[in-house]
Amino acid sequence: MARICLQYGIVAGAVPRRRMATAHLTFWHISDSGIFAALAELRAHTMSGTMHAAMPTTRSIMSDITTLTKAVAKAIDRPIALVGMMGSGKSLVGRRLAQRLDLAFIDSDSDIEASAGISIAEIFELAGEDKFRSLEREAISAAADIGPVVLSTGGGSICDAETAQLLCERTIVVWLQAQPETLFSRIGSFSSRPLLHTDDPLATLRDLATKREADYGKAHITVTTDQLSAAAAVTAVLRALDSHLAVK
Ligand code: S3P
Repeated sequence: MARICLQYGIVAGAVPRRRMATAHLTFWHISDSGIFAALAELRAHTMSGTMHAAMPTTRSIMSDITTLTKAVAKAIDRPIALVGMMGSGKSLVGRRLAQRLDLAFIDSDSDIEASAGISIAEIFELAGEDKFRSLEREAISAAADIGPVVLSTGGGSICDAETAQLLCERTIVVWLQAQPETLFSRIGSFSSRPLLHTDDPLATLRDLATKREADYGKAHITVTTDQLSAAAAVTAVLRALDSHLAVK
C-alpha cells in the first residue's frame, strides 16, 4: 500500500485553467495497481473528451473501480482464462488482474516449461507441436481443477478442439484481441516463440490471426486492447467480467 497525493487538475491535464486553480490535494491509502488503474481511466476520459462534459474525479473513479473489483471477486466461481495471439498481453494483464482480484496467477507455458525442464522452443524442436499441444492441454486441465485463478494460456491453446472444449466448459474465456501490428510492437522476445521463427514474423502474425479468428471467437468475452495500457486493459476486462457475470 502506498500513501499518494494527487492534484487532480494536473493529473487530468485537459482540465480548464480555472478548474486547475481550484484543484485540491487529495490523499488516499491505496494499492499501487489501484492508482494505475484509476490514472488509466482518467487518461481515457481526458482523451475521449468526456472529461469536460462530466468531470469524474480520481476519487470517484477509484471508488468505482474498487466496487467493480469487489463485485467481480465475489461472483467469480471458476478460472478466468485469457486467450489471444502472442503479444496480446495475456501474461502482463493476467498477472495484474490476479493481483487486483487477489487470485493466484497461472501461466500454462511456464508450467509446461517447469515440468518438462526445457523451454517451449526446445519442446517444439525436440518433440514437435503436437506433443506441445498435448502438454498444454494437460497444464490447462490441471489449472481448471484448481477453481478461481487467473490463467494465461499459450496463443494457440484454444485452436486445439479438445482444449477449446475444456476451456469453454470449465473457465470464463476472455479473448484479448489486438491488431497484428499492435502484437508485433508488443512482442518482447521472438526467440522464445518458435512459430515466429520465419523470414517475416509480422506476415506470420497476420496469417495466424486470420486463421485463428473463429477459434478465438469461441471466447465468452472479447476485449480489444489496441489503444489500452495494461492498467486500462485490466479495468476493461473487469468491466466485461462484471457484465458477463451479471447476465449469467
Ligand atoms: C504459441 C504461443 C506461445 C507458446 C507457443 C505457441 C501459439 O505463447 O504457447 O510458442 O501457438 O500462438 P504466447 O501466446 O504466450 O506467446
